[in-house]
Amino acid sequence: MTTTATLATRTDAEHMADPDWWRQASVYQIYPRSFADSNGDGIGDINGITAKVPYLKALGVDAVWLSPFYPSALADGGYDVDEYRNVDPRLGTLEDFDAMASALHTAGIKLIVDIVPNHSSNRHEWFQEALAAPKGSPARDRYIFRDGLGDQGELPPSDWHSVFGGPAWERITEPDGTPGQWYMHIFAKEQPDLNWDNPEVREDFLKTLRFWSDRGVDGFRIDVAHALTKNLEETLPTTADLEAEGEALYLEGRHPYWDRNEVHEIYAEWRKLFNEYNPPRTAVAEAWVHADRRARYASPEGLGQAFNFDLLQADFDAAQFRKTITKNLAEAEASGASSTWVFSNHDVVRHATRYGLPASASSAEGDIMSGQAGKQWLLAGGRQEDVDVELGLRRARAASLLMFALPGSAYLYQGEELGLQEVGSEIPDSERQDPSFFRNKGVEIGRDGCRVPLPWTAGGSSFGFGPAGSHLPQPAWFADSSVEVQEAQEDSTLSLYRRALALRSQLQADETLEWLETGRPDVLVFRRPNGWTSVTNFGTEPFELPAGDVLVSSSPLEGAFLPGATTAWLQ
Ligand code: GLC
Ligand code: CA
Repeated sequence: MTTTATLATRTDAEHMADPDWWRQASVYQIYPRSFADSNGDGIGDINGITAKVPYLKALGVDAVWLSPFYPSALADGGYDVDEYRNVDPRLGTLEDFDAMASALHTAGIKLIVDIVPNHSSNRHEWFQEALAAPKGSPARDRYIFRDGLGDQGELPPSDWHSVFGGPAWERITEPDGTPGQWYMHIFAKEQPDLNWDNPEVREDFLKTLRFWSDRGVDGFRIDVAHALTKNLEETLPTTADLEAEGEALYLEGRHPYWDRNEVHEIYAEWRKLFNEYNPPRTAVAEAWVHADRRARYASPEGLGQAFNFDLLQADFDAAQFRKTITKNLAEAEASGASSTWVFSNHDVVRHATRYGLPASASSAEGDIMSGQAGKQWLLAGGRQEDVDVELGLRRARAASLLMFALPGSAYLYQGEELGLQEVGSEIPDSERQDPSFFRNKGVEIGRDGCRVPLPWTAGGSSFGFGPAGSHLPQPAWFADSSVEVQEAQEDSTLSLYRRALALRSQLQADETLEWLETGRPDVLVFRRPNGWTSVTNFGTEPFELPAGDVLVSSSPLEGAFLPGATTAWLQ
C-alpha cells in the first residue's frame, strides 16, 4: 500500500465553523460503556473517552456520536433513559461531559449525542408519577395507558408484539393495589412509550435539545425517529389486520405507530430550534422506514439526514452495492440531504463477521433490525470456527474502503477500525445483557457480541480497556486485534482506516460520482470529480487495474492486478 497524496487541506477551524460540516463527515460511533474505562469499575466512561481524543484525532474522524450516557438502569443498554439532561453517575458528571466536549472540539472533532424520544425508562420521574396517579390523570397522559380488554380488563388492549419479543403492553397495579391499566411499550417493558400528543412531552424534549446544544453539542442522532406519533384513538386493529393492510399502511403513513405522517411536524419544530444555533445543530434520523419515505426525515426542514441501512443489509455483491449506491445518491439529492452509509453499529453483527459467513446464510433481505445472516449464525451457536474470519475481514476492509470513497457521511462503529469480529459463543448466557436475549429466548441471541469493550493493548486484565475488568467478557483473540498491535503494523486494519480517512478528507468538495464500465460484473469502478477512482473486486479472479497511481488498497496488490475482495483507490 502506498500513499502519494498530501494530507487534508482543510483546517480544523474551517471544519468547526462550516454549517455543512456533516454532509461528508466521517462519524465515529462510541458505545460509551464499552469504549474506555478510566477508573477500573469495568464500565467505560466519559473520562475514558476524553483520554482517547488523541486516538480519535489520529484516526481522522470528523465527528463522534455517543450512544446514550444518561442515567439508566441499562434495561436496554442505556436506551432506557431515567433523566435526559444528566450523565449516568457511573459514567461521570456534567463537568466531565463538558471537559470531553471541549477536548473533542479542540481537536477539531464535532460531537453528536443520542436522543431517545420515543420512550423514557420506567424509572423516569414522569413514569413513576403516572403509576402513582389515577387513571385519566394528566400524569398518565404523558404515556400511553389504556384499559385492557376482557371482563376484568385482564387482556392487553391489542395483540401487538414488542420489537424485543413478548407483548407490547404491560399491566400495572393501581395505587390501591388492584390490577389496573396497561401501558404501551414498543421495546422492553422498562421502556414505556411517551405520548407525543401531550404538549408537555413536546416542551420537555425542546428543553433537552436546547440543554445539550447550549453545552456545545453539535448534532443529534434520533433514536427510533419513526415511532413518536401514534394513532390509538379508535379500536385498535389486530396484528392480523395490520398485516392484511400491509404495505399500504406504511406507504401512506397510516400505520398506528410506525412512520406516521404527523411525526414530521415534530421535526419541523426541532429544526427551527437547531437553526437558532451557529452553526446550526444537525440531526440524523434512525428511521427503519420504506426507502421511498426516508427523504421526509432527511429534508432540510426536518432532521436533515437519515440513516440508510441498505448497504448494511446488502450482501458483499457488486450488483447489490451498485444498485444501493445509485438509488441512495439519487434519493439524497432529491431530499437536499447527503447520503449516509453504515456497515456496523451497536445493533447488528459486525460486518467483518457477516461477510465471513457461508453464502447460504448471507441474504439479509427482509430483516430490518439486524442482518439476518448474523442472527442465524448467532442462533446456530455463534462459533468462530464457523466463520471464515480471514475472508470476512478482507471483504470488510474492501467494503469500508469503498464506503470512504463515496459522497455522503460514513458512519463507523467503534472497533471496526480494528477489523473486530463479533463475539459469539464466547459470551456465556449468564453474562448476556441485551433484553432481546431474555425476551426472545431461542429466537434472538441479542446484540452483546458487538458491544464487548475494545482491546487497546495486547495484554492486561481487560486488554487495556481499563485498569481492571470488563463488563462483558473479552475473548483471548482480542489481543491480536488490539490498538497496540495494529499501530505497529503498516498493513493492519487500523493503519488502513487512518490512511483512508486522511485521504477521504480531500474528496469532500462535491457529492457526485461517475460509474465506469469494466466488462466484469463482479468489479465496481467509480470516479470522483477530483479524478480519483475507486475500484472494488467483489469476486475472486484478479482484475487488471486501469492506469494510475495507487493511493491506498485494502489488501496488497498482485503486481498490476487487484486481487479478489479488495478495493484500491487510484489517482
Ligand atoms: C434503537 C437503538 C437500539 C435500541 C432501540 C430502542 O433501535 O439503536 O439499540 O434498543 O432503539 O431504543
Ligand atoms: Ca468506569
